[in-house]
Amino acid sequence: MSQQKRIEAGIGCESCHGPGSVHAKDERKESIYKASDHDSHRATEVCLQCHMRNRDKRMERLELKDLFGDVRDYPKGFEPGKPLINYKLQAPFRLGQESKEFYANGVGKKNRMQGNEFVHSIMYKHGITCFDCHDPHKLDSTSTTPPGDALCMKCHDYGSVIGPHQKNRQAHTSCGGASCIDCHMPKMARHLKSSPLTVRTHVFGFITPDDTRQYGVPNACTGCHTGRTLEWAEKQLEQWGMTPWK
Ligand code: HEC
Ligand code: HEC
Ligand code: HEC
Ligand code: HEC
Ligand code: HEC
Ligand code: HEC
Repeated sequence: MSQQKRIEAGIGCESCHGPGSVHAKDERKESIYKASDHDSHRATEVCLQCHMRNRDKRMERLELKDLFGDVRDYPKGFEPGKPLINYKLQAPFRLGQESKEFYANGVGKKNRMQGNEFVHSIMYKHGITCFDCHDPHKLDSTSTTPPGDALCMKCHDYGSVIGPHQKNRQAHTSCGGASCIDCHMPKMARHLKSSPLTVRTHVFGFITPDDTRQYGVPNACTGCHTGRTLEWAEKQLEQWGMTPWK
C-alpha cells in the first residue's frame, strides 16, 4: 500500500481496509486491504487492533509514569496488513497467574478482551478468524442477535473430526436447556464493575467446574443452574463421560 493517509475519522471502512481515497476515485490505481485474502493470523489483527487489551508499545522501554498524560490505548500508526506486534503490546498474561485482566487459566475478566482470549484458542491456531463468525458490515450483529447453533454447525457436525465427537446432540449433552454458546462461550466478564456478567468469553474450550474451584472463574453449568453445586455439575459430566483427565 502507498503512503496515503486515512480520510475518515473514527471507526470506518479505512480502519479495516486501510487508506482508500485513491481506490475510491479509481479502483484500478490502488486496491484496498481485504482481510480474507491474507494469512489468517495477520488478517485477524485487523480486529485485534481494537478488540484486545493492551499496553502502550513505548512501555517496552519507558515506565508508565514517563508517559503520564500521553498513554495510548490504541496502536498509533498501525494500518491493516502491517504486523500489529510492532504497534502494540498485549496486556501481560502468565498461565497460572491471576491479574486484574485475566483469571489464572487465561479467561478474560473485562470487556474488549476477545482478542486476548482468542489468540490462545485452538480455533485461532487452526486459522479461524473473527470474521468467520462476525460480519463486520452488519449492524445487526452476532452480539445483538444471538446466532443460534447454526453459526457453529457451519463447520462443526456431530461425529465429525473437529467435533462434537458424539453421534448426536443427546449424546453430546443431555442438558436440554443450553445452546452451543451457552456452554462454550458463557458470559464471564462485565461491561461495568457493577453490571451483571454480560460479555461472552472467546476461549471456546470448555471451562470446567473444577476451574471454578481452582481459579474462581465462572463456569457455564453452575452459572445457569444457580441452585446447584460444583459437585453436582461434575457428577453430570462424569455420567456423560466428559470428565477430563487430571
Ligand atoms: C470492522 C472492519 C471492517 C469495516 C469497518 C469495513 N469492512 Fe469491509 N471487509 C472487512 C473484512 C474482514 C472483509 C472480508 C470479509 C470476507 O471476505 O468474508 C471485508 C470485505 C469487504 C469487501 C469485499 C467484499 C467481497 O465480497 O469481496 C468490500 C467491497 C468492503 N469490505 C467494503 C467496505 C466498505 C465500503 C466499508 C465502509 C462502509 C467497509 N468495508 C467497512 C472488514 C471491514
Ligand atoms: C477501530 C476500532 C475497531 C476495529 C478495527 C474493529 N472494531 Fe469491532 N467494535 C469497535 C467498537 C468501539 C465497538 C463498540 C463497543 C463494544 O461493543 O465493545 C465494536 C463492536 C463490535 C462488535 C459488537 C457489536 C454489537 O452489536 O454489540 C463486534 C461483534 C465487533 N465489533 C467485531 C469486530 C470484528 C470482527 C472486527 C474485525 C473485522 C472489528 N470488530 C474491528 C471497534 C473496532
Ligand atoms: C466461533 C465464532 C466466533 C469467533 C471466531 C469470534 N466470535 Fe465474537 N462472538 C461470537 C458470538 C456467538 C458472540 C455472542 C453473541 C451473543 O451473545 O448473542 C460474540 C460476541 C462478540 C462481541 C460482543 C461482546 C460484548 O461485549 O457483548 C464482540 C465485540 C466480539 N464477539 C468480537 C470478536 C472478535 C474481535 C473476534 C476475533 C478476535 C471474535 N469475536 C471471534 C462468536 C465468535
Ligand atoms: C469457520 C469454521 C468454524 C466455525 C464457524 C466454528 N468452529 Fe469451532 N472449530 C473449528 C476448527 C477447525 C476447530 C479445531 C478442531 C480440531 O482441533 O480438531 C474448532 C474447534 C472447536 C472446539 C474445540 C476447542 C477446544 O479448545 O477444545 C470447540 C469447543 C469449538 N470449536 C466450538 C465452537 C463453537 C461453540 C462455535 C460457534 C460459536 C464454533 N466452534 C464455530 C472450526 C469452526
Ligand atoms: C450443556 C453443555 C454443552 C452444550 C450445550 C454443548 N457442548 Fe460441546 N462440549 C461440552 C463439554 C462438557 C465438552 C467436553 C470438554 C472437555 O472434554 O474438556 C464439549 C466438547 C465439545 C467439542 C470438543 C470436541 C469433543 O467432542 O469433545 C466441540 C467441538 C464442541 N463441544 C462443540 C459443540 C457445539 C458445536 C455445540 C452446539 C451444537 C455444543 N458443543 C454444545 C458441553 C456442551
Ligand atoms: C443457558 C443455561 C444452561 C446452561 C449453560 C446449562 N444448562 Fe443444563 N439445563 C438448562 C435448562 C433450562 C434445563 C431444563 C431443560 C428441559 O427441561 O428441557 C437444563 C437441564 C439440565 C439437566 C436435566 C435436568 C436436571 O436439572 O437434572 C441436567 C442434568 C443439566 N441441565 C446439566 C447441565 C450441565 C452439567 C451443564 C454444564 C455442562 C449445563 N446443564 C449447562 C439450562 C442450562
